[in-house]
Amino acid sequence: MASFYNNRFLIVFLSVVFIFSSCKDEENVAEQPKKEKIEYEIYRPSEMANFMNAMYAYNVQLKQQIIKGETPVIMPLDLMKLHSAEMSNGHARTPVWNSFVNVFIEAQQSVADTLSNVELRARYNDAINNCLACHKTECTGPIPKIKKLLIQ
Ligand code: HEC
Repeated sequence: MASFYNNRFLIVFLSVVFIFSSCKDEENVAEQPKKEKIEYEIYRPSEMANFMNAMYAYNVQLKQQIIKGETPVIMPLDLMKLHSAEMSNGHARTPVWNSFVNVFIEAQQSVADTLSNVELRARYNDAINNCLACHKTECTGPIPKIKKLLIQ
């Protein structure tokens, strides 16, 4: 019997809490969209950040292929996205960015260039060093991660 009353009390109590909190939500309706927008901006990676991560993943796979002695023949990324992708707050196509981006694109493309006379490993490390060259000033955080891509 005691537990029946306890449960009933609990249900009534929770309903009151629920009704109370729904009212509270309604009171906050005007503030909510602003809050959601801020979270959206903080947690959503930019188009450029997504593309950088795709380039990272591609190069992880290239490194494995090269170490196994395989010859990469395709470059599946649309590197022109580097010229168009929207960047996150605080990043922009600075003069430094512009001075590095095309050199990098050429270096990355040459890794899968089967007609090149330059040794594959050297071409690959050259592409990674071009990632690093731009990152030294434009986005220093991922440098340790990018350095691990180099084939020693
Ligand atoms: C021309 C300059 C430049 C080159 C070249 C470059 N990056 Fe970036 N990278 C940036 C900038 C700027 C950002 C920050 C982008 C943003 O947050 O919108 C970034 C961000 C990143 C990030 C973090 C993404 C995230 O989740 O926030 C990684 C990882 C990364 N780059 C890896 C690489 C790799 C690997 C290469 C070479 C294959 C490379 N980058 C080439 C400038 C460059």
